[in-house]
Amino acid sequence: KRLIFIGPPGSGKGTQSPVVKDEFCLCHLSTGDMLRAAVNAKTPLGVKAKEAMDKGELVSDDLVVGIIDEAMNKPKCQKGFILDGFPRTVTQAEKLDEMLKKRGTEIDKVLNFAIDDSILEERITGRWIHPSSGRSYHTKFAPPKTPGVDDLSGEPLIQRKDDNAEVLRSRLKAFHSQTEPVIDYYGKKAVLTNIHAEKPPQEVTAEVKKALS
Ligand code: AP5
Ligand code: ZN
Repeated sequence: KRLIFIGPPGSGKGTQSPVVKDEFCLCHLSTGDMLRAAVNAKTPLGVKAKEAMDKGELVSDDLVVGIIDEAMNKPKCQKGFILDGFPRTVTQAEKLDEMLKKRGTEIDKVLNFAIDDSILEERITGRWIHPSSGRSYHTKFAPPKTPGVDDLSGEPLIQRKDDNAEVLRSRLKAFHSQTEPVIDYYGKKAVLTNIHAEKPPQEVTAEVKKALS
């Protein structure tokens, strides 16, 4: 399966991806996770991306298209993939179509994690992540067994630098102006399914699995 998960910050893309990935043996390609790893490692890509990410603005199309083009060549992605947080502009969507055409494939399904903005601040400000695995927790909705500690590795959890109310506002602005047109783009291609992303995590998982069955 070749899938795209679209939705605003905190809508549950990163929470649902590992479940779907395991169920269908796919690779999980999160441009946000890949960019954060590059920022931490201070690679040339990370240095270029950091400023926009800290402000909650989008990184340039060329940078993220390059990352995805490279990642799709990995052996583990040949069976299929979940694109989490990509494409986020119509230009990225068009470039993705070209990349897939070159490989003789196309997108099977786009899941739109639809949710009201008003719910997202609580989700974002309560999130704690384990950077090396990408696992995320929430102080209220998905607490770790020990506060501040990853359940599986025992390593410390951290908060993302962009997970505060102020930067969330600019991330939402970017979503509405630049990413919502991408939802229309896939609506026209008849591959789009809307998910009720405001429901509790297990109910969202059930809806996602149903959409993909
Ligand atoms: P990215 O990392 O993609 O961030 P985002 O889009 O803002 O999305 P989030 O990761 O915040 O949301 P999510 O849907 O994954 O939420 P989660 O499941 O963790 O991008 C970061 C930055 O990188 C961008 O701002 C941009 O600068 C740059 N970038 C990335 N991709 C780019 C691109 N293609 N082009 C240009 N720039 C790009 O859930 C959130 C919290 O809620 C968690 O704590 C979770 O436990 C909890 N939760 C999840 N589901 C539920 C539920 N159903 N009920 C209750 N709580 C829940
Ligand atoms: Zn995410």
